[in-house]
Amino acid sequence: MDYTPVKGTHDIFGAEAKQHNYVSFVLKSTAELYGYKGLETPVLEHTEVFSRGTGESSDVVRKEMYTFLDKGNRSVTMRPEFTAGIVRSIVSNKYYATEDLPIKVFYHGPAFRYERPQLGRYRQFHQFGVEEIGLDSARADAEIIIMAVHMMQNLGFNKVNLKINSIGDDETRTNYRAALVEYFSKHIDNMCPDCKERLQLNPLRILDCKVPADQEIAKGAPKLKDYLSENSEKRFYDTLSIINDFGVEYEIDDGLVRGLDYYSEVVFEIHAISDEGKDYGALGGGGHYGGLVKALGGPDLPGVGFAMGMERVVNVMNDNHLLDEITDGVDFYVMPVGEDMLDEAFNLTMMVRSFGFSAETPLANGKMGSMFKKAVKRKAKFAIIVGGNELERGVVNVKNLATQEQIEVPLHNIDRTLENLINPQENECCCGGDCNCENEEHDEGCCGGHCCCHHEE
Ligand code: HAM
Repeated sequence: MDYTPVKGTHDIFGAEAKQHNYVSFVLKSTAELYGYKGLETPVLEHTEVFSRGTGESSDVVRKEMYTFLDKGNRSVTMRPEFTAGIVRSIVSNKYYATEDLPIKVFYHGPAFRYERPQLGRYRQFHQFGVEEIGLDSARADAEIIIMAVHMMQNLGFNKVNLKINSIGDDETRTNYRAALVEYFSKHIDNMCPDCKERLQLNPLRILDCKVPADQEIAKGAPKLKDYLSENSEKRFYDTLSIINDFGVEYEIDDGLVRGLDYYSEVVFEIHAISDEGKDYGALGGGGHYGGLVKALGGPDLPGVGFAMGMERVVNVMNDNHLLDEITDGVDFYVMPVGEDMLDEAFNLTMMVRSFGFSAETPLANGKMGSMFKKAVKRKAKFAIIVGGNELERGVVNVKNLATQEQIEVPLHNIDRTLENLINPQENECCCGGDCNCENEEHDEGCCGGHCCCHHEE
């Protein structure tokens, strides 16, 4: 019996799970700023959704899908990507008829590809993505690219490496394919077996080949930009001009063709090399797709979208220290001093949670030393020490576990004090603006003598 995770899959626990939630929250909130709505589709789809949608000539469909016959003998596939399933949903629910166009959706969840596991490449991974369906314009394409960059900025990236290209309209790709067939036919005997097949299926895919010798041959291949139709060229430069107006920096990458069959016109990828020098591959990618909605049985509507790889984004953010604040620790660890303080500590813990702070208490009697060790292990920011003598005076001690500084906090306005400890407000009194130094209450230590407005005297 093998109890290890299936090769290429991984468990996401504790701090890492919180980081994933945080990243998807930032991405989702940014998508909502642009008017996007959530759409959740099943992991399982009929295999044709991907073979017709994602494309027969893509490596994803040819080699990487988790496809099986279910007990009813139907061929089903665990989604290798979301776009085809999202479009299937828009077509089968007829959202194109009931919703205002363009339909703008975001999604998040696991996807599955039978790839060789390596840095940043898994067999089960998570994507966050967006699709905008029903509007054919350079402005729609540009808005998606601007939003992708905006998302990266909201995650804390100062510099976004955006690679962009146009693979043109049908006319462009028909002419370009013919040129590629002519070029590669002369070299195909020296190329890998996959490329021999690609030459028949879709010679554009040869440009994605990872075999070094084939990459060398591909360097001499005709360039896409020389085959762009007039319309596609204009559309591409219109898109670039809009994103440029919004200060988005980009690099035109003539070799960028993307590995999925549905793309037409603009395509793009977002890359980042981590501060530690690791290259996780593209953090995200996407582009315009002209014929996908129709190919999946819907009306002739275009779409544009992109997806980010959550694991890659989280890994690069960790390497660049952008997630240091997102831990699985608690705000407060509440410690009873002695067994007879267990109830009080429990009640206070519940009260602290009711203020909206995370808190834990050991629920059993223990020595102070071991409770402090537990508090550190739980990555608590503060310990609240509940002692009988202090309670009689209406106070508890609160210790900052990073600085070891300890203050006495009166219970009557503990909510404000705790708030200020967790979210210190500049220029605001730690007693929530209620501090009045002429007031006797303050002399009693309304903020434990640690009033940050420095009005103690
Ligand atoms: P994709 O480039 O195949 O595009 O995947 C998008 C992102 O998912 C990649 O940039 C990468 O970060 C992540 N990713 C892909 N495969 C793996 C893997 N095996 N392990 C870890 N991360 C991975 C799409 O999937 C398109 N559906 C994007 C799109 C949306 N185009 C238009 N709309």
